[in-house]
Amino acid sequence: MKTLIIGGGNMGRTFASSFLTAHILRPADLTVLERSVQALDFLKSLNIENLHTRPAEYIKEQQLIVLAVKPQDSRELMPTIKPFLSDNHIILSIMAGVQIETLEKQLGVKKIIRAMPNLPAQIGMGMTAFTANLEVSRKELIEVQNLLSTTGKAIYFEKESMLDAATAVSGSGPAYVFYFMSAMMKAATELGFNESQAELLVWQTFSGSIDLQNKNPLTCDEWISKVASRGGTTEAALKVLSEHSTNESIGKAIHAAFKRSIELGKKQKKKA
Ligand SMILES: NC(=O)c1ccc[n+]([C@@H]2O[C@H](COP(=O)([O-])OP(=O)(O)OC[C@H]3O[C@@H](n4cnc5c(N)ncnc54)[C@H](OP(=O)(O)O)[C@@H]3O)[C@@H](O)[C@H]2O)c1
Repeated sequence: MKTLIIGGGNMGRTFASSFLTAHILRPADLTVLERSVQALDFLKSLNIENLHTRPAEYIKEQQLIVLAVKPQDSRELMPTIKPFLSDNHIILSIMAGVQIETLEKQLGVKKIIRAMPNLPAQIGMGMTAFTANLEVSRKELIEVQNLLSTTGKAIYFEKESMLDAATAVSGSGPAYVFYFMSAMMKAATELGFNESQAELLVWQTFSGSIDLQNKNPLTCDEWISKVASRGGTTEAALKVLSEHSTNESIGKAIHAAFKRSIELGKKQKKKA
């Protein structure tokens, strides 16, 4: 599938190198359009052969076009690529909050897939949620899923609203995990560990817990009960978390992210 990635920043370059490393695309079939000189230098170091700084006729030859620019840059980009697009193109947008309807209006194309990856995609451990409009065929959807799966796991949702939900859970999710880790590291330094000791204790605890869960999938409550004994240290910690309604705070945080994703989508729609 001849593929053009527009925007070779964090996500664009992750996609480009994952598609090539997994041998799903041949270098000749991958093109990147990127305007920043710095990003271009980095893309060259990834051995990406077809690099462009401006939209032009080459866009017409593509089958799949991945939109990997920031949502706020998309309004400027859309009119510059629209003259080269036709109904044969498949658009794959990874822009947070930009709805399919907005893309249909701005680009005037038929086939649109919207995906929400997350940061661990950079190391092939990403979680991507995706959806598509009815113009995308089953075969095209599977081909795109194969590409997305090179960055980790990919799950299809029929309802587009689930993309806002996935943005709140897995898209923003790595930040919640790092927030929790950072709080644990701060407490560790208060208990007398130096920073690198605190990092080691916390990182290995997270990494070990996830590996444990991956190998032996008990529920979170079952794992907690294996660590916490009656009257013990873990129970003392969990009591404080519960007294501070930490569970509910996490829930509220995820709902706030969901609400914000919908708001941003509406804003983009208004501007379109
Ligand atoms: N990072 C994440 O964890 C994550 C997760 C899920 C989804 N996303 C989505 O992925 C998209 C990209 O995010 P990112 O973190 O990769 O952003 P990024 O690092 O800023 O990369 C975007 C790149 O696109 C370039 N660009 C912007 N407008 C362009 C144009 N008209 N023509 C060519 N190149 C252009 C930018 O150049 P300049 O630097 O000159 O602007 C930049 O190099 C966003 O829409 C975001 O919502 C990101």
